[in-house]
Amino acid sequence: MGPEAVPEPEPEAEVQPVAPAVRPSAETIDTAPLNPPQGSAKMQARDVSVSYGDKQALKDVSIQIFDDRVTAFIGPSGCGKSTFLRCLNRMNDTIPSARVTGEIELDGEDIYSPRMDVVQLRARVGMVFQKPNPFPKSIFENVAYGPRIHGLAQNKTELAEIVERSLKRAGLWDEVKDRLQESGTALSGGQQQRLCIARAIAVDPEVILMDEPCSALDPIATAKIEELIHELRGRYAIAIVTHNMQQAARVSQRTAFFHLGELVEYGKTSEIFTNPRERRTQDYITGRYG
Ligand SMILES: Nc1ncnc2c1ncn2[C@@H]1O[C@H](COP(=O)(O)OP(=O)(O)O)[C@@H](O)[C@H]1O
Ligand SMILES: [Mg+2]
Repeated sequence: MGPEAVPEPEPEAEVQPVAPAVRPSAETIDTAPLNPPQGSAKMQARDVSVSYGDKQALKDVSIQIFDDRVTAFIGPSGCGKSTFLRCLNRMNDTIPSARVTGEIELDGEDIYSPRMDVVQLRARVGMVFQKPNPFPKSIFENVAYGPRIHGLAQNKTELAEIVERSLKRAGLWDEVKDRLQESGTALSGGQQQRLCIARAIAVDPEVILMDEPCSALDPIATAKIEELIHELRGRYAIAIVTHNMQQAARVSQRTAFFHLGELVEYGKTSEIFTNPRERRTQDYITGRYG
């Protein structure tokens, strides 16, 4: 451009476009309505608040989680993402100081009802943690454990079938099929995380919760897990906590932005990353804090 070619002053953009690296890929663009009718959500949270002792960690969070879709929870460290994820399968029950109020439904059923069988709930709503945590048992036993305690197999053949199918779905079968009796803890970090995903899958869950599942992994192992999330989403509702915005943009169709215990904004990933409604969301995705 010559010096005399003065560009038209651009109108002050309400929202600066974010770096291309965090643009959602075409594959993640979701044309489904943002708020389908009540009742069609796989999980529905209403006014969920959590305190640890007298410290409030989460305030009045309401959100719907859908089948066939990946929902990413993003936000700065300490803003309540893990706390909220743990509400969805009552893992906060295991923290004595935690007090949860509000309502959460799975297929319209109150998961905090005294009638809810929590062991069953955690099979239906499985969880994968930041640090891969295989049991100190064989690869086979890591995956077979859940189906066995839930009585999902009639005999050894059926159990072996469940193990094989789960490892295949988790993208690990080819790497471990000849060493099923070796310890799960002897696998690489990325393989261990896929083993943990296979373990969650083995009990036939409906929802899979993942809390920063790649943050302890190298980029290649991370790419494998992200690819796997893509493949799994046709079968399970998935909610993933990530502090990596590129990852949220790559793997999710819905994004929820948390800040200081509040759900600031929830929407289609494509919109959250290109045209957020809230100033705080924009500041976060453009790297102004966090
Ligand atoms: N087990 C716990 N006991 C007491 N406070 C906790 C516990 N877990 C989380 N918190 C507090 O709750 C807030 C939200 O934490 P967390 O849900 O872990 O955030 P995030 O996952 O977004 O980093 C933080 O202030 C954190 O210190
Ligand atoms: Mg966390």
